[in-house]
Amino acid sequence: MTAPEIVVVGSYNRDVVLVVAHLPAPGETCLGLDRRESPGGKGSNQAVQAARCGARVAMVAAIGTDAAGDDALKVWAAAGIDATASPRIADHGTGMAVILVDAKAENSIVVDPGANAQLGPFHVDGAVPLIASAKLVLGQLETPVAATKRAFEIAREAGVLTALNAAPAPDAMDGEMLALTDILFVNEIEALALTGQADPVAAGGTLLAKVGVAVVVTLGKEGAVLLRRDQAPLARPAHRIEAVDTTGAGDAFIGAFAASLARSGDFARAMAWGLGAGALACTAMGAVTSFADETRIARLLAPQA
Ligand code: RIB
Repeated sequence: MTAPEIVVVGSYNRDVVLVVAHLPAPGETCLGLDRRESPGGKGSNQAVQAARCGARVAMVAAIGTDAAGDDALKVWAAAGIDATASPRIADHGTGMAVILVDAKAENSIVVDPGANAQLGPFHVDGAVPLIASAKLVLGQLETPVAATKRAFEIAREAGVLTALNAAPAPDAMDGEMLALTDILFVNEIEALALTGQADPVAAGGTLLAKVGVAVVVTLGKEGAVLLRRDQAPLARPAHRIEAVDTTGAGDAFIGAFAASLARSGDFARAMAWGLGAGALACTAMGAVTSFADETRIARLLAPQA
């Protein structure tokens, strides 16, 4: 592969999806209506969506030596993702997520990090040439912050854009991590966790003062808002779709946004691609199993062009 445009430093999980009529209340037992297994993990999902949008992508993720780890390599190979800098960890199983999806297409997710928790700065150091030659480095919070921080330090030194998806919502955010971040992606829950502010757009404004370039607040059915210093907020509505499963929709948004931005440098265009990919990801079950390719997203966006 020639130099990647995007390097993702993040997680891979095996997703076990249980379909339920409603999400159980504390203490309640529900019978599942269906069970599916599919590839997941926020890092891998975002990498796959970026690759499906035509970006050259490299993945730095820690996977086990088990069958789920073999599957990860197959998923990345099928998407054309360079996984040469992804270590296999002998004594830890590949990460796993248990996902409940209800009749309203909403979900609850619990992640067992497994090998993801072993990803360290040492592994990231093995990816220096990939990171230094990329246009954008993308991280999330499903893997240790020390590894993401190292990747962002390398990127900063090489003049490469850094983007962080603060998911899952952290109890506290590492200030140094934010200072190394150019673009921050948060949803409503993450915006509240990081600032204590219930209004997600106001929270985005608070967060903008802590990062280099931009904050993108995703608002589910309400679309997304892009905040940049000295510029008016850019609010865009979501596409109207019949949602079946919203799992991975945020990852699809971020992967497509990153691919578009790395190619064009145009934030408004990246917002459109993110919203298109996010909407299409809700129309089928699972995360990467529901992600659209460049052609389908372009077709959805065509009336706007
Ligand atoms: O964002 C959705 C993802 O979160 C799932 O694929 C699951 O693995 C968790 O990482």
